[in-house]
Amino acid sequence: MPNPRQLLDDLHRRQAQAEQGGGPARVAQQHKKGKLTARERLDLLLDEGSFVELDRFVTHRTTDFGLADQLVPGDGVVTGHGRVDGRLVYVFSQDFTVFGGSLSEAHAEKICKVMDLAVRNGAPVIGLNDSGGARIQEGVASLGGYADIFLRNTLASGVIPQISAILGPCAGGAVYSPAITDFIFMVRGVSYMFVTGPNVVKTVTHEEVSFEDLGGADVHGETSGIAHRVASSEPECLASLRELLGYLPSNNVDPPPLGPTDDPEDRRDESLLGVIPESPASPYDMHEVIRAVVDHGAFFEIAEGFAGNILVGFGRLGGRSVGIVANQPAVLAGVLDIASSSKAARFVRFCDAFNIPLVTFVDVPGFLPGVAQEHGGIIRHGAKLLYAYCEATVPKVTVITRKAYGGAYDVMSSKHIRGDLNLAWPSAEIAVMGPKGAVEILFKDEIANAPDPAATTQAKIDDYTRTFANPYRAAARGFIDDVIDPRDTRPRLIDALRVLETKRDRNPPKKHGNIPL
Ligand code: HXC
Repeated sequence: MPNPRQLLDDLHRRQAQAEQGGGPARVAQQHKKGKLTARERLDLLLDEGSFVELDRFVTHRTTDFGLADQLVPGDGVVTGHGRVDGRLVYVFSQDFTVFGGSLSEAHAEKICKVMDLAVRNGAPVIGLNDSGGARIQEGVASLGGYADIFLRNTLASGVIPQISAILGPCAGGAVYSPAITDFIFMVRGVSYMFVTGPNVVKTVTHEEVSFEDLGGADVHGETSGIAHRVASSEPECLASLRELLGYLPSNNVDPPPLGPTDDPEDRRDESLLGVIPESPASPYDMHEVIRAVVDHGAFFEIAEGFAGNILVGFGRLGGRSVGIVANQPAVLAGVLDIASSSKAARFVRFCDAFNIPLVTFVDVPGFLPGVAQEHGGIIRHGAKLLYAYCEATVPKVTVITRKAYGGAYDVMSSKHIRGDLNLAWPSAEIAVMGPKGAVEILFKDEIANAPDPAATTQAKIDDYTRTFANPYRAAARGFIDDVIDPRDTRPRLIDALRVLETKRDRNPPKKHGNIPL
């Protein structure tokens, strides 16, 4: 029996070996590509000294393709738990220096273990993905490993927040697991997501495409909408991931974090009086409204580069975490289209699942008409947002700043679909459609036969505007709870959220609904 000193030396040697991953040469290669190692990433993500590693001595089991003598302790993924701002999180960080971070059966078991622990202990799970997908040498065992992860991703969805950072070329299963999680972070020049890489694409479709153009961070941040945050460096990405966690509860039972704030709850904001342009056709930036209202102007935007006609993200009001959804009149006049409906629907459902109140700012001319939208399925995609808002039982507070026309009025957290407090600014216009469109339909013949069609049109528009393009018709029916001075928006929202803290609402018992996907 070796003496205790020898046993400890042996332990330390094994620990050091595990920390080396694929060895110094591959680590140097990783650094040469401008990438951090799996452990360096965890150091940046977690509070200093908080990481507790599990399963560092796990190795793969396959002996095929000469792998019997290539055992690497940890098998290409570092797993365990740690703290972010003192709060518990479970993590896995894939190590590209070990078989390209590819997923073996044992590697999958390690990830499944931390996912199970995260669910059992009600803490978020964060995956730092840097993987070539299923480990080819393990065949169906690695496919099975991914399926085990997908099942857990799905069962944990809506129970604990699941966040993925993509920090390398991720293919196959390494993109489908993140795709089921709640948020995906990417880094320009480092992260790639594709079902199969450029080489396979060339063989199958004869298309020549670079990593960047096929699945780079900007492609997924702006074109596919798969990435929710795009950073310029890994440290920026991981800092931003920490920031996101600050807005989220640890699970679907705990309340969202309530922090102290020194931004006065009764702060009125003079700038809100000048936000709405005189001409109803002129754009303005809804960010200005959001920043003037939330604590310290801090808005953590989600999917900023995709479907800019709707803004979604997190903020705080009186220290309470809220999810914000806002039409953006500065992009496509804030119209609802396929991309914006899908983007907002997923966000609404996340907030509802995790009891984060929804604050909705409305300035929407309607759904986008056109052949491309109709053939692309705007009916189905628009219905997602409608469904998501109808289904949501969290506190829902709505402010109509200007236009709320047509079906989009109903969709955007209206009173009719269980909006708890619906406010309007005096500039609000709530009607079936805008004055010009309405007049051209209602008075088509009269205008055509008028001696001065332009003057008749204008007179009809003025009449329609006086009658319908205001908030008072809706307020007279109780569809708007109050018309407010825009400067009071922040105090009114904070008061509403306090009142709604004890809100209890539930949907009929069912296995699950059938949201139009
Ligand atoms: C085993 C792998 C691997 C894999 C990479 N490696 N991917 N080993 N299984 N899936 C190894 C390489 O052999 C290499 O080993 C090292 O990792 C680094 O890989 P490189 O190719 O040199 O790196 P790079 O040029 O940066 O390219 C990275 C890559 C590419 C784009 C990820 O390796 C690639 O295309 N891999 C295959 C991706 C893929 O098709 N995966 C899908 C699997 S199917 P050495 O020893 O040379 O350093 C799947 C299905 C799951 O995941 C279910 C989905 C629903």
